[in-house]
Amino acid sequence: MAVARGAHVDGSTSLDMDQITSQLSTLGLSNLPTFPGVQLYPEYNPIDVHRSYIIEQIHKSTGVEPAIINQAVAWTQDLKHGDLVLPVPALRQKGTKPDELAQKIANEFECPLVKKPTADKTFVRFFFEPGPLASLTLKYILNQKDAYGFNPHLGREQPGDLQSKQKKLIVEYSSPNIAKEFHTGHLRSTIIGGFLVKLYTAAGWDAVSMNYLGDWGKQYGMLSQGFEKYGSEEQLQKDPIKHLNEVYVKINNDNSEEQKPAKKLAEKKDELEKTKTPPKPKKPAKGQEAPPEPPKWTDEQEQELQSVTAELEKVQAELVAKPSIDEKARQFFKRMVESDKDALRNWEKFRNLSIEAYKEMYSRLNIAFDDYSGESTVKNEDMDKTASILEQKGISEDSKGAVIVDLAKHGAPKLGKTLVKKRDGTSLYLTRDIAANYERFEKYAFDKMIYVIASQQDVHVAQFFKILSLMGPPYKDAVEKCEHVTFGMVKDPKGQTMSTRKGTVVSLADSLDAAKEFMHNVMKKNEDKYAQVADPEGTADTLAISAIMVQDYSGKMINNYNFDMERMTSFEGDTGPYLQYSHARVCSMERKAGIPRSQLLSADFSLITAKEGVELIRSLAQWPDVFLNTYRTREPVTVLTYLFKMTHLLSSCYDAKDYENKNAKTMSVMYAESEEKKRALMGLYDAARQVLGNGMRLLGLTPVERM
Ligand code: ARG
Repeated sequence: MAVARGAHVDGSTSLDMDQITSQLSTLGLSNLPTFPGVQLYPEYNPIDVHRSYIIEQIHKSTGVEPAIINQAVAWTQDLKHGDLVLPVPALRQKGTKPDELAQKIANEFECPLVKKPTADKTFVRFFFEPGPLASLTLKYILNQKDAYGFNPHLGREQPGDLQSKQKKLIVEYSSPNIAKEFHTGHLRSTIIGGFLVKLYTAAGWDAVSMNYLGDWGKQYGMLSQGFEKYGSEEQLQKDPIKHLNEVYVKINNDNSEEQKPAKKLAEKKDELEKTKTPPKPKKPAKGQEAPPEPPKWTDEQEQELQSVTAELEKVQAELVAKPSIDEKARQFFKRMVESDKDALRNWEKFRNLSIEAYKEMYSRLNIAFDDYSGESTVKNEDMDKTASILEQKGISEDSKGAVIVDLAKHGAPKLGKTLVKKRDGTSLYLTRDIAANYERFEKYAFDKMIYVIASQQDVHVAQFFKILSLMGPPYKDAVEKCEHVTFGMVKDPKGQTMSTRKGTVVSLADSLDAAKEFMHNVMKKNEDKYAQVADPEGTADTLAISAIMVQDYSGKMINNYNFDMERMTSFEGDTGPYLQYSHARVCSMERKAGIPRSQLLSADFSLITAKEGVELIRSLAQWPDVFLNTYRTREPVTVLTYLFKMTHLLSSCYDAKDYENKNAKTMSVMYAESEEKKRALMGLYDAARQVLGNGMRLLGLTPVERM
């Protein structure tokens, strides 16, 4: 599936400036004004053409610097309030009353692209002339096609010069754990990370997709044992992710069973120790009574504590001597760390088979990774180097044979104490993240790196970022180029947390398949249409994935949401299937009308005068600005909100009525009064399809032509 790469490296899809100039000259406008220090992109963005003239006019009336004017002129969320708006106070003019200045700007304003502006208190509202806007905007869209809205300058070292170097971005996302289920948290990371890569690519960055697999640690010693006991080579080949997870769950159960007595004793010991030395009571608030003294610690209790401790030590020693599953796992992992070939053989097979299976899932989501790194690929020598820097600089300290960093001592009390090396010398999740960060910088010399990791790990990320910055240059410089994009949890339809124990965790493969089946059944209901879909299975899959992704994108990333199959697969409301339906509907209309796309560009778009059509064009003109805004917010919901608004305007065009002319459906291609009008209308619908498709592809959706 081809994913639109918005930005063509050579910029060949931008609109030729000559075309724009000749278009403008028909309106009596000569050269497009440009201003030093103001970066506009009229060759990509029709609104920037309008902006240029608006800046010129405001400058003429006020003398304010063009750069300040450019910053002040804002786009509007709602077209009711204008296509662009100037909040006059943002011009920072002392000594003049904003409402008077607004009036002056409005009165003196003159430009054939913009209606006479209205001064609304301290705002000046600009409404574009529909005729010129229509011809200009639709020409941009029909010319630039898949690239319309995107801007390859933003990711250049020198914006404005497409010959200058592309900046390098690493996005680390998805990062599942090989032994465990690929759960909805990983799904969210995958979807959001995939979106960020597409967003930055469309902005001209050179973006690398990196997966950081959870493929290292004692649990792989556990998994290997489990496989010896419960594994089946056949099932491993068939569905490695599922099978390894089953094996892991079984061996974990055995392990918990085996550890039960020790766990009970440890709990008892803990409880007794707390009774012996209770936490200091807080000072009572004024007027409140002091809490009663805790009861005295008795000799009997002391005896009990000692016997529990002795019993626990005995049980623990027995477990090690046995050796227990846990101890065997520890030993096995130690051999892996020491590069013991036998120990690594199975692990390597598990890893490779899992990656193959992941790749298949990712391609369903329009995602491909450039780099499958993982916790296992972090080099021992780099972790050793990190450890010695931490020690030399007095950042880490010894704690009962282990090494810790007390971040409270280094200006970050909220981040607490954290372990960086275990007593047996093996590394930890955190240690690996510290070393991996700089390894990546050495490998890629990135300008920016984004970690897409769930909010449950906010503290973990803040800790390793902080430790890297304490380490000083060059580690500090690298980590300063890093960002954490965090996101909320996926809950069940009732808003409850999903957990493996409750059996409510929806695994990725299962939920994709369930949604696919659901969509397939919906499609079958319309027999005629169904018969015309070339690949119904494939289409059902595409629709299902759209449903899941759009649901994920529907709020800000940090919000939790409920995984609700019923709602997300509905064709009504703001859902993925609704967007697909809107796209397919235009495609179907185009097939019926049978006008070749190449003939649309030369249509006379000033024939589109119905209110609904004009509104749609205004909305289509906004898309490049929406993209720019998304580049700032980096929230997929920014794109989604726009697409729903735009598709609603599109759908009102289908029913548009012209009461004066008693023409029942004034925007119908089929019933258009002339061939010219027909072409103009078809051009508009095609442009809407194009923008919808561009937005959907940016979100990682594959627009369908039939459904
Ligand atoms: N494998 C981890 C997990 O599933 C996520 C890894 C996130 N990335 C990182 N650099 N720590 O919890």
